[in-house]
Amino acid sequence: MNVVILAAGKGTRMRSALPKVLQPVGGLPMLFHVIDAAKTLQAKQISCVIGHEAHQVQTALGLHYGADHEMSLVLQSPAHGTGHAVACALPSLGAAATTLILYGDVPLIPPHALKTLVACSEQHNGIAVLTTRLNNPTGYGRILRNAQQAIVGCVEEKDASDEQRHIQEVNTGIMAVPTAQLHRWVGQLKNDNAQGEYYLTDLLGLAARDGVAVVSADIESDLVQGVNSQEQRAEVERLYQRRLASELMAAGVQVADPNRIDIRGRLTAGSEVRIDVGCVFEGQVELGDHVQIGPNVVLKNVRIEAGARIEAMSHLEDCSVGPRATIGPFARIRPGSVLAEGSHVGNFTELKNTRLGPYSKANHLSYLGDAQIGARVNVGAGTITCNYDGAEKHRTVIEDDVFIGSDTQLVAPVVVHEGATLGAGTTLTADAPAHQLTLSRTRQTSVARWKRPKKQSH
Ligand code: UD1
Ligand code: CA
Repeated sequence: MNVVILAAGKGTRMRSALPKVLQPVGGLPMLFHVIDAAKTLQAKQISCVIGHEAHQVQTALGLHYGADHEMSLVLQSPAHGTGHAVACALPSLGAAATTLILYGDVPLIPPHALKTLVACSEQHNGIAVLTTRLNNPTGYGRILRNAQQAIVGCVEEKDASDEQRHIQEVNTGIMAVPTAQLHRWVGQLKNDNAQGEYYLTDLLGLAARDGVAVVSADIESDLVQGVNSQEQRAEVERLYQRRLASELMAAGVQVADPNRIDIRGRLTAGSEVRIDVGCVFEGQVELGDHVQIGPNVVLKNVRIEAGARIEAMSHLEDCSVGPRATIGPFARIRPGSVLAEGSHVGNFTELKNTRLGPYSKANHLSYLGDAQIGARVNVGAGTITCNYDGAEKHRTVIEDDVFIGSDTQLVAPVVVHEGATLGAGTTLTADAPAHQLTLSRTRQTSVARWKRPKKQSH
């Protein structure tokens, strides 16, 4: 089988500079969802017709699938309709028996429906078109049937009579066509219609005219929703998210509300995992057994090990969290950070490129950047690693069992040796020796007979 994916349209109705087929669904350009579905079909060849912002689409394909992505890219420029797009792809199509045509803006299509469609075309030696029924079919091509219920054509919204607009059976755009006949019919397409375009959908009428079978395979409408506007993109996004949430729940994950979760990448979860409302997962996220994620947490490329808890409103990116650690609420963990087993990071604490050792705590209002922190360290409230001198970044090393008093600044590069204690308010500018108290503050004095100044009365 050949697969042709149409992705050359401008997507005017999106009102966006980003080409429509690169608009995201689940964090991935919608075209990639279609390509991924096509790739599961063991097609001889996948051709992708690009045109509008072709260079941008080509670059995105190369970045995601690699330079040797084995798809053949066909340029349609300028774009004169879906029929014209297929005409552009014709010379590159192999002599395979069947050609499957997919639309780059119909991203949720499941592979099994495509297999059925191709089998249907081959069985009847004719066109098999994927159709669905919509309560509101506005914008879609309507399927025309004769008195015997045989398909005799498809009429686009803009060309349809009032009566035809009441038809609720619509064309999804997806069809399987015998390749030899595809060549013949595409050559016969005309553009004498409301949009002055060559409609692929006219193939149905041409086949019927030639006495070739035109059969339909019906599919649930949610799976074939097209994206022409931001409104429809958001609808498709929700449908997609609902599908991912269902998969998670089927695997035993407790999702507080499947309508309030967003996965923009890949999320894997162990057993007894709980996810509260409003969380966003980006890139690759791994949650171990018994992990709990509080409400409104954002996790991007994060690995969280068994039993760890991330409390409300925390933001973690490119980092890892060890077993039974607790983070947040309101914590920010930035790239390069590693939080070891049983560590604690509390509210309004930021870590960047920092390793927090086992059972160490930074519970309140701290900034720890470019730091290596050992085991069982207590970082007091308001501690700051001064890692940046305006030109370079420097490291802070805090060894095991250190106690850092509140409101301490560690001016890097600096080392706090094992078991040291830093008094509250210290500005540490040289290394602190092991097992000693180090502090830098002026000695406290009290003036016994001191009187507060009083306002003179006149
Ligand atoms: C199309 C169908 C309509 C169907 C609907 C389903 C036609 C004429 N109409 O309408 O019957 O109900 O899809 O979603 O086919 N494209 C090109 N080159 C072009 C024009 C479009 O590659 O010259 C691509 C677009 O990038 C898009 C797809 O083809 O991925 C569909 O084009 P679009 O303009 O969105 O067609 P619809 O009006 O949605
Ligand atoms: Ca469309």
